[in-house]
Amino acid sequence: MIIKPARRIRGRISLPGDKSISHRAALLAALANGTSRITNYSTSADCASTLSCLSSLGIRIDRNGQDVSIEGAGDVGFHAPDQPLDCGNSGTTMRLLAGVLAGQNFTATLTGDESLSARPMQRIIEPLQMMGARVTSAGDRAPLEITGSQNLQPIEYELLVASAQVKSCVLLAGLNTQGKTTVIENEITRDHTERMLQLFGASIETGDAKREPAGARFASVTGPARLQACDVSVPGDVSSAVYFIAASALLPGSSLEIREVGLNPTRTQFISELSARFDVARSNIRDQDHEPIGEVSVRGREMPSSAAAAPAIIQGKVIPQMIDELPLLAVVGSQIAGGLEIRDAKELRVKESDRIAATVAGLQAMGAEVEEFEDGLRVAGPTKLRAATIDSRGDHRIAMSFAVAALLADDQTEIQNAECVAVSFPEFFDLLNSVVEG
Ligand code: S3P
Repeated sequence: MIIKPARRIRGRISLPGDKSISHRAALLAALANGTSRITNYSTSADCASTLSCLSSLGIRIDRNGQDVSIEGAGDVGFHAPDQPLDCGNSGTTMRLLAGVLAGQNFTATLTGDESLSARPMQRIIEPLQMMGARVTSAGDRAPLEITGSQNLQPIEYELLVASAQVKSCVLLAGLNTQGKTTVIENEITRDHTERMLQLFGASIETGDAKREPAGARFASVTGPARLQACDVSVPGDVSSAVYFIAASALLPGSSLEIREVGLNPTRTQFISELSARFDVARSNIRDQDHEPIGEVSVRGREMPSSAAAAPAIIQGKVIPQMIDELPLLAVVGSQIAGGLEIRDAKELRVKESDRIAATVAGLQAMGAEVEEFEDGLRVAGPTKLRAATIDSRGDHRIAMSFAVAALLADDQTEIQNAECVAVSFPEFFDLLNSVVEG
């Protein structure tokens, strides 16, 4: 994809449905009794992977664009699949579905593409084995062969990595136990599973874990759960909105309004970081099916040329709350006085690509001064970015982050393998074209 420098962004947009929430809506609908209707279901390839795995498990799904109707297996249960379940590029599909399969009375195999087959799975294998599921794997990696048990044991489990996928895997497995399964997290991660479980009528409790470190939280489900089908309207994906927010904030004269986007506080740290430095505001926050949604407006202004000496430092417990936005934040960091340093983010190395290495390489190719750390990076700013050829490494968030960088560059930039944006946001380039003024 060739991207030309832009003058400004103008428009009013809404985004396709949130990817994280869509996965959860589909999985819980498949487990429930009755037929659930999901509107504004994510258009991502990842969420299509979840639906196709569910179909292979005997679930009847009727999809009409962003409207999906799912007949839950309920008391009847899933069918043993007659082929491996292909999770494609989707870590959320693999890790959450593993939790669901741990409670079924058959064996199923989960596979993924090359990127997913290189990502760590021990983090879910360990708690599922503790609960009594049999999991065989290629060491820490997929494929995973899961032999479920209808006699799973409830556990109390403290997350070793701040991961909503691991938390969700354990809670979903907990639905099929006799008793209370508790997950403790020392750093807050996205809580869509907890909210969606409540919507589908599970017995779920959340709160302060009342232990060190301060801020630790717990989530408990009590099994066996009998979920009830419901209608879910999925908010616009805030992790897709951020590219438009950043581009508008960085291009003076821009004016952008985003409607009906998810504003769950466990997902909005990137917006908070931008609001502290740019003209970005949230408004009209309301509840929709247990998720906060609202509007975001952005105005691009000339940046004050104050010569701040020290870089802004982003680290600690805010990191999991903008984990997918960190490559984009680094691009923004290259434009702010003093630059930006990101720490405590070594999880980025095991995402769809090594996102620290990919971000450092991309920023360097565009002429920024960058230092790489094991757990993050430091980028100097403000830097006038140079046109370059960027290797997306087949990672959707790298492709979109550098599409934003390309809008700021001195000449046209090429993003290689840009079609990977379809993993989360197939409409990305068309929507960008519709609001960019050259
Ligand atoms: C997700 C959780 C995050 C995030 C991913 C989606 C989810 O992964 O990076 O894109 O939907 O639960 P981790 O939980 O592994 O950090």
